[in-house]
Amino acid sequence: MPPDIVAHRGASTRRPEHTLAAYELALDQGADGLECDVRLTRDGHLVCVHDRRINRTSDGVGVLSTMTLAQLRGHDFGSWHGGEPAGVLTLEELLGLAHDRGARLFVETKHPVRYGAQVERVLAAVLGRYRVEAVMMSFSVLAVHRFKKLKPDVPTVLLYDRLWPRNLPRFADYAGPGVHLLRRHPDRGRDTYVWTVDDPADVALCRERGVRFLATNNPGETRRLLAAN
Ligand code: G3P
Ligand code: CA
Repeated sequence: MPPDIVAHRGASTRRPEHTLAAYELALDQGADGLECDVRLTRDGHLVCVHDRRINRTSDGVGVLSTMTLAQLRGHDFGSWHGGEPAGVLTLEELLGLAHDRGARLFVETKHPVRYGAQVERVLAAVLGRYRVEAVMMSFSVLAVHRFKKLKPDVPTVLLYDRLWPRNLPRFADYAGPGVHLLRRHPDRGRDTYVWTVDDPADVALCRERGVRFLATNNPGETRRLLAAN
């Protein structure tokens, strides 16, 4: 079985990351799933933004967790990438799209510092309101453990960047190595989530190793590569 294609921040080479336009294009290009990063606003809403600050991906500046959703809505998150103006995307809006299009949603909680366990609590509550196949992911062992206790039925991915330990904790369903780690460990890969795979040689490697989920910024090209082999 070829890996499922997960659009990393949407079709983010072609559209501004974490915008509805990026996610809609990804699904039009044949992505099976969507990846997003979530952060908590000061007033308790989960929004889809990668960085701690909004400087890179909007026309605003500042630390996201110090802002309310209404304040974030005053900024444009689309034009920086040459796209149409776009408001900040809430997790609930993205869940609505995933529901309507029948896509699986991979939600990565970003290193919870300011709000600690509240991120996982809000995520568990929000996911409970939508009939969407969701997967929770984090580089934080603590975050994955906390979430699994709250929502045992939702699959989890423990992400790895610098090292890839052989043993997965029991509360994580999948290992999530970066593709650089997959290259370094020739005997591994089966049934994993691998990020971020944009090079054609890496797409072939994921297929050979039996990777289950492949996260890419370019789902259209990845779909063509997998169809051709
Ligand atoms: O899918 C996992 C991957 O997104 C982790 O890295 O920095 O792009 O969130 P980052
Ligand atoms: Ca991510």
